[in-house]
Amino acid sequence: MHNPLISTSPITHFLSAQDVSALIKRMGLQRCLQGMAAAITRDFLRWEAFDKSARVASHCKNGVIELMPTADAQTFSFKYVNGHPQNTSRGLPTVMAFGVLADMATGRPLLISELTLTTAIRTAATSVIAAKALARPDSQVMALIGNGAQSEFQALAFHHLMGIEEVRLFDTDSQATAKLMRNLQSNPHAKNLRVKACLSTGEAVLGADIVTTITADKANARIITPDMVEPGVHINAVGGDCPGKTEIHPDVLRMASVFVEYEPQTRIEGDLQQMPADFAVTELWRVLAGKTTGRNHQRQITLFDSVGFALEDFSALSYLYETALAQQQVQHLDLIPYLDDPKDLYQLIRHSPLAVTAANVAAMPAANRYCTDLSPA
Ligand SMILES: NC(=O)c1ccc[n+]([C@@H]2O[C@H](COP(=O)([O-])OP(=O)(O)OC[C@H]3O[C@@H](n4cnc5c(N)ncnc54)[C@H](O)[C@@H]3O)[C@@H](O)[C@H]2O)c1
Repeated sequence: MHNPLISTSPITHFLSAQDVSALIKRMGLQRCLQGMAAAITRDFLRWEAFDKSARVASHCKNGVIELMPTADAQTFSFKYVNGHPQNTSRGLPTVMAFGVLADMATGRPLLISELTLTTAIRTAATSVIAAKALARPDSQVMALIGNGAQSEFQALAFHHLMGIEEVRLFDTDSQATAKLMRNLQSNPHAKNLRVKACLSTGEAVLGADIVTTITADKANARIITPDMVEPGVHINAVGGDCPGKTEIHPDVLRMASVFVEYEPQTRIEGDLQQMPADFAVTELWRVLAGKTTGRNHQRQITLFDSVGFALEDFSALSYLYETALAQQQVQHLDLIPYLDDPKDLYQLIRHSPLAVTAANVAAMPAANRYCTDLSPA
């Protein structure tokens, strides 16, 4: 099969926010979540094939901007993402992102894509991958603490991919909970999902099989405390993902078996930042690859300390790109100039450069085209 990721076309493709939202609407969120989860699992099982590093972060009082690179032998990716919990009061999302795929052999950018919506889907897919490996398989009820931008995707991923039948919601902002209730209750694909608003985290968590925390507050919050934790529960801790930003009381981590994406990054950013450097954790890929066990017994407390790792964005970008190319739904971006003599960059200011569009590339002399894939815009 033709692999779009190693095509030699000089064209850089572009997926805008509208393109990605249309793509997901066409295929349906459930299918997209399934495809994304399969792509992330596939890449976690190739863990050793990737260059890995903790992300680079620039902090300010209100938030953080992060760059998340990774690469295998063929393809490089990075994501730009921010986290500014006070943004919503200024009319901006807390989390905004875009990303790039590039060809390792030449360094040529293949794709620039929106990743704000995509991040919510890939994060929800990753949560379910972890929960399938760690939660009790008979789990039916999930508490969802934090009902902002990410929360619908978590609720629907757990319903569609894990069979969760009831979600219990709590947010310090009751309007966020009302928004989540509305969105879930009006979703024709989630008719069998029971949705209950709660008045406190304690009420939402009581008797839940899975607890997902996905709040945003740049503070050392302790939303889940030891008195709330029942035997056998799986905690999916997603919102503590930056130094000085936590959700889980350290004693809860002591009660649990703790699983992480990439240990060096989670030690800095996760709820794990509260624990000593020798506190034992297991990387999730080892469980997925069968190198170690996840849950050992019904009463074990498991905790996935999710911070978001570059590999998940590599998988998400690759999956989006393959899907969009197969549907011939990508735009061409005139990003890298076409040069009839690649040593003559000066030609670009000597005369108007040829825009790198499908039509122009087709018209180029074959010898200069270095091009095999001309997917229509
Ligand atoms: N781990 C990952 O891979 C990953 C990926 C994406 C986002 N995140 C994190 O997830 C969190 C949520 O992101 P979002 O885009 O939904 O943000 P958002 O601002 O849209 O929503 C966050 C919600 O948390 C609520 N909240 C804050 N403190 C709370 C508390 N103590 N108890 C209950 N609710 C509380 C807020 O009222 C808000 O409604 C952020 O912290 C973000 O950094 C993590």
